[in-house]
Amino acid sequence: MSEYAMGRTPREYARLTRQAALFEPLTRRLYSDAGIGPGKRVVEFGCGAGDITALLSEMVGPQGSVVGVDLDGEVIEHARERMAAAGRTNVEFLRANLSDLSGVFPANSIDAIVGRLVLMYIPDPAAALAGVVPSLRPGGAVAFQEPWFQMPGGPESHIKRASTCIIETLRKTGAHIDLGPRLHRIYMKAGLPMPKMRWEAMMDGGPDSPLYQYVADTVESTLPKAIEHGVVKDGDFDLATLAGKIRDEMEFVGYAMPIAPLVAAWCRLPG
Ligand SMILES: C[S@@+](CC[C@H](N)C(=O)[O-])C[C@H]1O[C@@H](n2cnc3c(N)ncnc32)[C@H](O)[C@@H]1O
Repeated sequence: MSEYAMGRTPREYARLTRQAALFEPLTRRLYSDAGIGPGKRVVEFGCGAGDITALLSEMVGPQGSVVGVDLDGEVIEHARERMAAAGRTNVEFLRANLSDLSGVFPANSIDAIVGRLVLMYIPDPAAALAGVVPSLRPGGAVAFQEPWFQMPGGPESHIKRASTCIIETLRKTGAHIDLGPRLHRIYMKAGLPMPKMRWEAMMDGGPDSPLYQYVADTVESTLPKAIEHGVVKDGDFDLATLAGKIRDEMEFVGYAMPIAPLVAAWCRLPG
């Protein structure tokens, strides 16, 4: 697997949950468009802290079920505790590498395969997907959201430095930073039908928007790998003031703050 840029710490797990709240409307709409509803059995790639798992648990209801798969045993334990605390009984977790799922789920046993910000970390995402496609039932759905990061242009600014740090660290650790617009090719290579696709980003122009702190938190998560790979030097960012500086810049320009754009791709098997 590629080296993981985001780190595996409790602070990163908490960041994932705040990020999930920002992306939730986009992800809920995608799964609804893909036909995920009551009674469906869903496999979730890269469940992380379990935020999508909880959303799916609600969408499939008590007659359905969700299997969250992740490589990180600690994040799975964290997600499992959260599901237990919320009384979610239609959820289970599997610790596994997504590149090794071939034959793990029986043929014709799954109604949907989904994930967000996860195929981008897998060296061969089409092969990983192809390993699970035989487990889909006729009419089964596949729905992923992956990023389309582009290096920021324009004059020097705090937001440009922060975005460059995040994107360049992801790139140097082997993540596919522009997997979103290539998802149709990944689906076709995995033997799936041509998906429908949508490119979108949440924005928030409020002076108290959580997006400013979200960017600072994401810089913090990538910082150890950014320093290791020479993207930035120790001390280049003042994390305590970064969110405020980005907010002041956006207020000055008069732009609403965007969160990283995601490409959604979804398809259904015939039948
Ligand atoms: C950025 S997080 C996204 C979590 C979740 N999908 C969300 O959007 O909140 C990516 C997750 O994918 C997992 N992951 C990355 N590569 C993996 C692999 N090869 N096999 C299994 N899980 C992997 C990481 O451990 C991490 O929990």
